Amino acid sequence: MRVLVTGGAGYVGSVSVEGLLRAGHTVTVLDTLVTGHRAAVAPGAELVVGTLSDASLVAGLLRSKGIEAVVHCGARSLVGESIANPALYYRENVAGGVALLEALREVGVDRLVFSSSAAVYGAPDSAAVDETAVLRPINPYGETKRAFEGALTWYGRGHGLRAVALRYFNVAGASQAFGEHHQPETHLIPNVLAGAAGGTPVTIMGTDYPTPDGTPVRDYIHVEDLSDAHLAALELTAAAPPGLEVCNLGSGSGFSVWEVLRAAQEAVGAPIPHEVGARRAGDPPVLVATNDRARDVLGWTPRRGTLQEMIGSAWRWRQAHPQGYAEG
Ligand SMILES: NC(=O)c1ccc[n+]([C@@H]2O[C@H](COP(=O)([O-])OP(=O)(O)OC[C@H]3O[C@@H](n4cnc5c(N)ncnc54)[C@H](O)[C@@H]3O)[C@@H](O)[C@H]2O)c1
Repeated sequence: MRVLVTGGAGYVGSVSVEGLLRAGHTVTVLDTLVTGHRAAVAPGAELVVGTLSDASLVAGLLRSKGIEAVVHCGARSLVGESIANPALYYRENVAGGVALLEALREVGVDRLVFSSSAAVYGAPDSAAVDETAVLRPINPYGETKRAFEGALTWYGRGHGLRAVALRYFNVAGASQAFGEHHQPETHLIPNVLAGAAGGTPVTIMGTDYPTPDGTPVRDYIHVEDLSDAHLAALELTAAAPPGLEVCNLGSGSGFSVWEVLRAAQEAVGAPIPHEVGARRAGDPPVLVATNDRARDVLGWTPRRGTLQEMIGSAWRWRQAHPQGYAEG
């Protein structure tokens, strides 16, 4: 199949492109490179530098490449930035997303997989969240993900779009070739590993949560498992009736910040410098996905769910790319 991947030069997109190519698909990547990297686009995929907000550019690409389905990873995804600059998030994630949908509608492409987020739930009442939980985002980033999911529902009803929104929890790990390189980096595991490599010591934000060891518990999913879920979701859009299917992507259980730090120390083979700081506003004690729906609907369960696999692969990638993608 011929697939367009928006954001295919980013962390999640790069590994998903790799998975799509391995599965025999032909891939075009559309990316502004605003947070992505040219070197993160797998050989074999074609990179077009441009924005998904440009409906005429996208429509031209869909036609000229004969695109049959879209994996939509391209977005702004920094919570703090979204609070400081909500307009950017509404413009890129909502208005830009709708421009993409208009291009699909114009050309008659009716299959899309969307990188949504657990941020749509906000700070849920129960620790284990299923897809029926109330959507109450607590920042513009989560709100824009929720809004775009809404657009997908209405494009399904009105225009026959078949879409799957995958609500990722915390993505971690690396493939052999592609890993996580964000600037700034806000995710725990790369920041712990940066501390191990002589960078800024990581700050543990709060040790007085009502959890077994006092630190927050989060659900982590290996980026290659996520790539597998993208493939399964793409297949689902072939058979599904028009509309939006929504699946959490998580492991169904979680790891605390101390557990992550300990596993990272084992992977690195040395103590990792860290500091204990205050809680971050809005962080719930426990946030874990139920993943029954992904299992039932996509036939997907995580296969690389241990901290050893996730942190070990991230550390190996970091050692092979000490400057991230900056070197090339
Ligand atoms: N990484 C996670 O833990 C996580 C968790 C939940 C959801 N997500 C979602 O997954 C997706 C990918 O996340 P990521 O961590 O790989 O982020 P990333 O920043 O590494 O990748 C995003 C990519 O999109 C590109 N991009 C941004 N705006 C664009 C535009 N207008 N047109 C074309 N390309 C554009 C960027 O250059 C980048 O390559 C995002 O939608 C994010 O919200 C990620």
